[in-house]
Amino acid sequence: MSMTEELVEHYGGGDLIAAIEAGLAALSLTRATASVEVLGSVDEFHVGGRTATTDLCERLGVEPGMALVDIGSGIGGTARFLASKFRCTVAGIDLAPNYVAAARELTAWTGLSESVRFESGSALEMPFDDGSFDGAVQLHVGMNIEDKHALSAEISRVLRPGGRFGLYDIMRTSDASLDFPVPWATDGSMSFVDDLPTYQAALEAAGFEVEAVRDRSSFANDFFAAMRERSAAAIGPAPLGLHLILGPAAAVKIGNMASAIAAGAIAPIEVICRKPA
Ligand SMILES: C[S@@+](CC[C@H](N)C(=O)[O-])C[C@H]1O[C@@H](n2cnc3c(N)ncnc32)[C@H](O)[C@@H]1O
Repeated sequence: MSMTEELVEHYGGGDLIAAIEAGLAALSLTRATASVEVLGSVDEFHVGGRTATTDLCERLGVEPGMALVDIGSGIGGTARFLASKFRCTVAGIDLAPNYVAAARELTAWTGLSESVRFESGSALEMPFDDGSFDGAVQLHVGMNIEDKHALSAEISRVLRPGGRFGLYDIMRTSDASLDFPVPWATDGSMSFVDDLPTYQAALEAAGFEVEAVRDRSSFANDFFAAMRERSAAAIGPAPLGLHLILGPAAAVKIGNMASAIAAGAIAPIEVICRKPA
């Protein structure tokens, strides 16, 4: 199996739209009444969910009317949030065709199809013209991509001069080995967790100026503690949550990642950088 097929299989499985509709029904909502806000608890597939996205976008300096690209857009939560909160146009691209299909459907439900579109494809070869975006975001995607230099160069290509790029990935902070599965990988063959200097070297080789770096481990530890408290208090999982995307092994995947962050082996790290004008 190629790496792409392995990743599509890892992220595939199950009828996501049916699962989300069932979750909405449990909240007395339907596809007609689903909002970007309500969907935020299931469609932001990264540590800290919508809060982390809001933080990243504020630090990136997103402004109304910008044309943005969301690299590895998953089922489109970040892209819809950017369009609804900042009135931006957003193009998402993702390797997993089932995620792209779900992203389009959820975008239609929320009435945002005019401003948000999704393409199926690789972040290493995006179907976008040079310099077509004012800004780019990438949340929890680099862990699946071995060649950070090629990735950074491709992102730089699609950004206009002066455009900014906000990245939020899980990075390696020690040599400790990881326990699998984790949310981004069934096993070590599809996991390419690199350290911050590797990211910085790749970004700088692609011409980016790194403006700010923030380790979000403590935010992540609080997020997981709150998640544990909620599930201890609740009879079952919330109707809409990341478990719908993560599947039956959701608790193990999240547990392995949370333990590794708590132990300081890995960390969710934000990097804001700029392509010089
Ligand atoms: C953990 S999910 C994060 C999704 C989304 N960014 C979010 O935060 O909700 C990782 C995503 O990266 C996508 N991905 C992995 N490798 C990719 C590649 N080479 N090109 C495009 N997308 C990729 C996966 O299909 C998956 O949707």
